[in-house]
Amino acid sequence: MNKKIQTLQDKRQEAFLGGGQARIESQHKKGKLTARERLHFLLDEGSFEEIGMLVTHRSTDFGMEKEQYAGDGVVTGYGTINGRLVYVYSQDFTVFGGSLSETQSEKICKIMEMAMKNGAPIIGLNDSGGARIQEGVVSLGGYADIFYRNTQASGVVPQISAIMGPCAGGAVYSPAITDFILMVENTSYMFVTGPNVVKTVTHEEVTAEELGGADTHATKSGVTHFACSNEIDAINHIKKLLSYMPQNCEEQAELLAYEAGDESRPALNDLMPENASQPYDVREAIDQIIDEGSFMEIHKDYAENIVVGFARLAGRSIGIVANQPAFLAGVLDNHASVKGARFVRFCDSFNIPLLVLEDVPGFLPGTDQEWNGIITNGAKLLYAFCEATVPKITVITRKAYGGAYCVMNSKHIGADMNYAWPTAEIAVMGAKGAAEIIFKKDIQAAKDQNAKWLEKEKEYSDLFANPYRAAERGFVDEVIEPAETRAKLIKAYQMLENKVVNSPRKKHGNIPL
Ligand code: HXC
Repeated sequence: MNKKIQTLQDKRQEAFLGGGQARIESQHKKGKLTARERLHFLLDEGSFEEIGMLVTHRSTDFGMEKEQYAGDGVVTGYGTINGRLVYVYSQDFTVFGGSLSETQSEKICKIMEMAMKNGAPIIGLNDSGGARIQEGVVSLGGYADIFYRNTQASGVVPQISAIMGPCAGGAVYSPAITDFILMVENTSYMFVTGPNVVKTVTHEEVTAEELGGADTHATKSGVTHFACSNEIDAINHIKKLLSYMPQNCEEQAELLAYEAGDESRPALNDLMPENASQPYDVREAIDQIIDEGSFMEIHKDYAENIVVGFARLAGRSIGIVANQPAFLAGVLDNHASVKGARFVRFCDSFNIPLLVLEDVPGFLPGTDQEWNGIITNGAKLLYAFCEATVPKITVITRKAYGGAYCVMNSKHIGADMNYAWPTAEIAVMGAKGAAEIIFKKDIQAAKDQNAKWLEKEKEYSDLFANPYRAAERGFVDEVIEPAETRAKLIKAYQMLENKVVNSPRKKHGNIPL
């Protein structure tokens, strides 16, 4: 018996070493943790249970049968994060560069299926040279098996991907299907084809970092939601992100204990600049409204004209979408529309109520925007808000102009409560432009054209640069003092707690992708 137990212990010991001590040291030298070390920091102490530790590959080409490593380049299993069940896979770069074999794919698919059946999030820690080259099409099939399950799991359980090393070729598409991507600065990259192929095909000279590093994807492409300074930072981000989400689409995110107090926030009454064209940072409004320090911004450095993120309001997890007047005057453009739409859909998938803070001068005009599809992209945001059935509340703080008024969770597309501050301006367009169009003849006929224009601008502005026209129609449910915002929202979300919407029967909608 003792001998047999010794055999088991030896096999376990071998698996713990992955591709061997020398490769572990090489991993450390690059400033990277090993697959198991990452899981150690991610999961509650002692909670990890491994599945498939002794799996080995079945490949025999190129003498591969002689090179076997227990676990085959990925550590899979389940554990807890702050007491909550999660399923995890962590690719082991010390085994064939973490490359994806048929058996590695089977291991990942197994835990994905378990996560779906048992309703718990899937967290993937990616560090892989892509498809296992020695296996050819079998490894490509393995990737496709994962993509299929990512898609099946989408909207069923939250899926989070951390990129902790190279991620090339097909390897980028599994993370891309998941809900959130986190990258580590300087040690991770993502691209469909690397710098060498780029040089051959397009003659561009570009480094891996420039092409697909964390900063590139956090600022230029928006592929990653977070650029983290190191691996521990990324792991801490995963834990925090998870805290705002429920386990699956049937559940609500945890409601934290909250002691009611004085909910008025007088500072909000002084937030708005005197001049309506002056910027202010919408994050200051967010900070005043939510539970102190609870905002977790997502996609922070991408499309900064819209701010999205999770927060807590009286202990409740909410998703915030806010126009940012401090960047491009908060205008909606291609990137902002897509960023907002994706976030709204995540919140709706997982029962997280939405809060919109609206101060938007409209959609950005111009050839760049039109040729890059602002019509289709703006429609994504519109569709996402229309489709969302979670409690939806809008606060119009200042400008709500044109199509952007409709899009930003207006009453007409299903918002449950619409508030406006006295500074709200709700109209088809700004008074200056409006006067120029509808009073063109009067202005042209006037002796002093400038004075006439100003007079007509004032006329339009007096009529519409306020929230009262919309309130008279019931498009705005209540005009509130900014200081009252937090208190109003707390009550409204409580009131909407049991909201049920019966949408028309369909297979699925056709969001304008
Ligand atoms: C098998 C691989 C491998 C792979 C790396 N290794 N990538 N083995 N298949 N895809 C092995 C290496 O042979 C080496 O083994 C060990 O992993 C570490 O690799 P190094 O090259 O020494 O490490 P490093 O210098 O850090 O470079 C890492 C790397 C590079 C940038 C990832 O290895 C690389 O470019 N690999 C190939 C990437 C690639 O083109 N993959 C295919 C993508 S296409 P030893 O024994 O020395 O430790 C794809 C299609 C999927 O994925 C499509 C699905 C739809």
